[in-house]
Amino acid sequence: MGETVNLDGLFEDVACVKLVPGITPLERGPLLDSGARLWVKRDDLTGLGAGGNKVRKLEFLCGAAVAAGAKSLVTVGAGQSNHCRMTAAAGALLGLEVHLVLSGERPGHLEGNQLLDALFGAQMHFTGEPDHHWGALEIVRESVTDGLVGDGLEPYSIPIGGSTAVGALGYISGYLELSQQLFENGVNASAVVHTSSSGGTHAGLVAGQAICRAAGLPAPPVIAIGVAKGVVIGSPDVAALANEALSMLPNRPPGIEVVVDDVVVDGNWLGKNYAVPTDEADEAIRWAAQRGGWVLDRVYSGKGLSGVLGRAASGEWTSGDDVVFIHTGGVPSVFATDGIPPL
Ligand SMILES: Cc1ncc(COP(=O)(O)O)c(C=O)c1O
Repeated sequence: MGETVNLDGLFEDVACVKLVPGITPLERGPLLDSGARLWVKRDDLTGLGAGGNKVRKLEFLCGAAVAAGAKSLVTVGAGQSNHCRMTAAAGALLGLEVHLVLSGERPGHLEGNQLLDALFGAQMHFTGEPDHHWGALEIVRESVTDGLVGDGLEPYSIPIGGSTAVGALGYISGYLELSQQLFENGVNASAVVHTSSSGGTHAGLVAGQAICRAAGLPAPPVIAIGVAKGVVIGSPDVAALANEALSMLPNRPPGIEVVVDDVVVDGNWLGKNYAVPTDEADEAIRWAAQRGGWVLDRVYSGKGLSGVLGRAASGEWTSGDDVVFIHTGGVPSVFATDGIPPL
């Protein structure tokens, strides 16, 4: 490795509230059948509100909300949205009223993430829309936001998944943290694989990779396993979102840019649609539980790991390769109906 660039001060003057208590563990996992070594970055352990990837985004989203003097947060997601649950927890912590626009009808009995949404005191707006009708859900978010403006509640309104450039900053910081851990463990990883649905985690990771590459730090390529049709067909434009996030960091090393080739989305593990279980994900969930004691879910991380196992089995990573899987969370949905695969 050549000379490294000092990245202290990268996030200086960027609004942020501390929500992740420390760095999340990078665990050395088992060898895959192909002989490759699995590493698991435990972003299910980000702490706040039962954890998950969105806490990293919310550090910057809530930072922006507080800086803008917001009194409330509005966001949107599928009925069992992890992002909504973590936003509810962040709002509770920061004393902001939280409104969640959710797919589906109000169930007679709350479970999984919805149970926690209610526990955190969020107001839940059930739209009756199916899970993947993202456009229709966004329109309701806009109207709920307008209503709160009218009521003087000064909302900070967050699009689906928190996947704005501000939200993506959380995974620039997440990639830098991982790069440092790889350096400390002497691991030259072949890839960093994660689950992607609204694209913001991916945008932050590739932006972080570009920074680490420019700074002479470990910068393995990022592979997103798409679990929603939008990201699989290229929406959002991850490179553009990543570059917008980079532009928010005035102290970034000069000349860095995310290019289209940095953005790799593998849509082969989605199955029929968002949140429709697949046999491969169910198998990956059992594998992770029984080989590492990890809890994965059927909507996100199970499909993500099925991509790692499937790509390794096809010969992409073999003996001598190290592959990092970012466990992005989703654990509470395991406690909703049909949350775990048949045993
Ligand atoms: C558990 C889990 N993993 C991965 C993702 C995907 O993150 P993103 O929406 O930033 O693509 C989500 C999004 O909600 C999630 O809840």
